[in-house]
Amino acid sequence: MSGATLTIEEVMARTKPAPSEEERALLRAMVPERLPRHIAAIMDGNGRWARQRGLADRIRGHEAGIESVREIVRTCGELGISALTLYAFSVENWQRPRHEVSALMALLKRFLRAEVGELTENNVRLVASGRLADLPEDVQTELASTMAATASHSGLVLNLALSYGGRAELVDAVRRLAAEVRKGHLDPDAISEADVAGALYHPELGDPDLLIRTSGEMRVSNFLLWQIAYAEIVVTPVLWPDFRRRDLYAAILEYQKRDRRFGRVSGA
Ligand code: FPP
Repeated sequence: MSGATLTIEEVMARTKPAPSEEERALLRAMVPERLPRHIAAIMDGNGRWARQRGLADRIRGHEAGIESVREIVRTCGELGISALTLYAFSVENWQRPRHEVSALMALLKRFLRAEVGELTENNVRLVASGRLADLPEDVQTELASTMAATASHSGLVLNLALSYGGRAELVDAVRRLAAEVRKGHLDPDAISEADVAGALYHPELGDPDLLIRTSGEMRVSNFLLWQIAYAEIVVTPVLWPDFRRRDLYAAILEYQKRDRRFGRVSGA
């Protein structure tokens, strides 16, 4: 994962394309030592984006959303963020119309294939969280190949939540722990929060500090239910396909205004 904190001047120097005046002002307002370590995002509003443009097919919104994914991944890398978890496809999304599910799977496959170069250039390591065995085989193959190709990268970890549900993840964790109990490796009375956290899909990423939801809905939608216990939530009205690096900077600045108490008293 990423190393020492960068200065804002270093961030500006490595931001490509060069930041606009507005973006430079946002960057200058940031406190580099208080950047979130792990950011999670619920990428909502693709369908509405398409509808607002009079596009009959919601898929056009998902396609446009890919450009936001690309820019946000790059920006997180430039900022020196350690991990970014993106909610790309939920367990509930399987119930969408069949043509939308197939289009999303095709888009995902295309993204995985097309982005290997960019992920490599930016030293990004790809991992995935979810019931991956439920994905079509060709998508699983592409996913495995991109994960293997980026496995040695030491910068940002991009965690794609695919066929993901927070409750499903907890069920899977409980099953793992129950198997350990059955083998006699774990005493049920001794099960701790650390044991549950350790049985989740990617415990090494740690909990998200900042959860961003685009398109204005005030919902958690079964995302990272265990891990967001103390995440700061920023909801923006911007639809995902319009969410760009200035919006990420603004969300981080909002996060930096929050007083994170973790259930304790301020300053204690
Ligand atoms: C929610 O918008 C978005 C999704 C269900 C899919 C998100 C997928 C992408 C951004 C593209 C694929 C991502 C990767 C990483 C390849 P919605 O369709 O619910 O929008 P609406 O609420 O406006 O209808």
